[in-house]
Amino acid sequence: MDKSRAQWSSRLGFILAAAGSAIGLGNIWKFPGRAYEGGGGIYLLIYLGMVIFFGIPLMLTELSIGRASQANVVGAFRKLGHRRWSWVGWVGVLGAFIITCYYSHVGGWVLRYVFGYAMEAPAIYADPLGYFYATLGLGADENTFFPWVAILFAALFMALNAVVIIRGVESGIERFNKIGMPALFVILVILLVRSLTLPGAEEGLRYMLSFDTGKLSFDTVLSALGQAFYSLSIGMAILITYGSYLPKTEDLSKNTVLICAMDTMVAFLAGFIIVPAVFATLGADHVGKGGGFAFVSLAGVFEKMPGGRLFGVLFYVLLLFAALTSCISLIEGIVAFLTEQFGWERKRTTIVSCAVMFLIGCLYTCTQAAYPLKGIWLDAVNGLSFPPFCDAMEYFTDRLLIPICALGCCLFAGWVWKPESVIAEVEQHGVRFGLKRVYAVLIRYIAPLAILLILALSILGGKTFS
Ligand code: PFF
Repeated sequence: MDKSRAQWSSRLGFILAAAGSAIGLGNIWKFPGRAYEGGGGIYLLIYLGMVIFFGIPLMLTELSIGRASQANVVGAFRKLGHRRWSWVGWVGVLGAFIITCYYSHVGGWVLRYVFGYAMEAPAIYADPLGYFYATLGLGADENTFFPWVAILFAALFMALNAVVIIRGVESGIERFNKIGMPALFVILVILLVRSLTLPGAEEGLRYMLSFDTGKLSFDTVLSALGQAFYSLSIGMAILITYGSYLPKTEDLSKNTVLICAMDTMVAFLAGFIIVPAVFATLGADHVGKGGGFAFVSLAGVFEKMPGGRLFGVLFYVLLLFAALTSCISLIEGIVAFLTEQFGWERKRTTIVSCAVMFLIGCLYTCTQAAYPLKGIWLDAVNGLSFPPFCDAMEYFTDRLLIPICALGCCLFAGWVWKPESVIAEVEQHGVRFGLKRVYAVLIRYIAPLAILLILALSILGGKTFS
């Protein structure tokens, strides 16, 4: 084994780092809104299916490719003797790059809310939606035309990421995760109790437990697939990179199941906190379904609990760290690729790439602030369309790049590198891989066909942008 590569110091360190990468804004900021749009309970069911049948096998595959090759996401395919498959890694890096651009900006909103609850909680309670737009400078009127607050906080958040990455991933991330993750979990459980006991929350709870098949469409299925991969950090540079820092003695299959279970639990918790809170407080029409969904609806929960302000600060601090560990993993995937593939120096590469991603992310924030910047999207129904730039970024990654990279990993592991190689990578040092037959069938046939079908249907079926 190459001694110069970083390694996780312990099993717990790795699990927490991978869980830290998975658990982030996707679980708390994105998932509840998606679950709401997708029809509540029926969406949860589809999502769970996506995690079990595709998420777990793919995570295992990516970790195995990383550990077997001991290389970054592009180098991995070459090191395993299949240079022609490096494109899969390139797609992953591109996806991670685009996500980091906007992820870092949403991370900035979280940082702003830490200060918000610490210093001006009553103003948040008085007008949660107005506060969201006004304090971030996202309002569309001429007084708040340039969203400088949002941009300033995004810059701070990105700088925090850069500092941790430059100092070395293992110690920084590992140390935080040991305390931060369990703490986040505990606070979510407390918030769950408060949210579900708010007057009017039952309707939301009923919605989250309803299985209205009328809400089912290919668009919902694709949204669940994209969200599951996004949430588990699949289909990007990162799991291959983190797998490459993992000792051969680790049981990959057990770790994978554990990480997927933890991530899904946090997403579901957030869904059951936030959606009922929306029903109980402002109502969906007022909360809006965009970026503010989670931020705005949680205000109603904190307002109605004893010590709400303190819980507010605590929650946003923990969410901030969860966002940091995810964002760090995204950047680490990109930096590992740039330094190893091109021989660039780590510190400078980190600073320059963070600066570039932050700047591109400003376009995301500006479109959130109602600047009429447009992106491009192409599908069979709408033809060429020009959705808002921020939507286009998320669609491009969640619905295109991530599924394509995941599909590439399936095809590579199923047909080129072969499931036997993955199984051999897992079964070292006496580790047993119980469901290896099931794994082989899933990765060879079921997962690639399903991903392909969903991708094709979404492109053919089209999607109207609101
Ligand atoms: N999984 C993270 C979340 O749910 O917030 C986001 C993310 C991190 C996606 C790292 C991709 C990734 F490589």
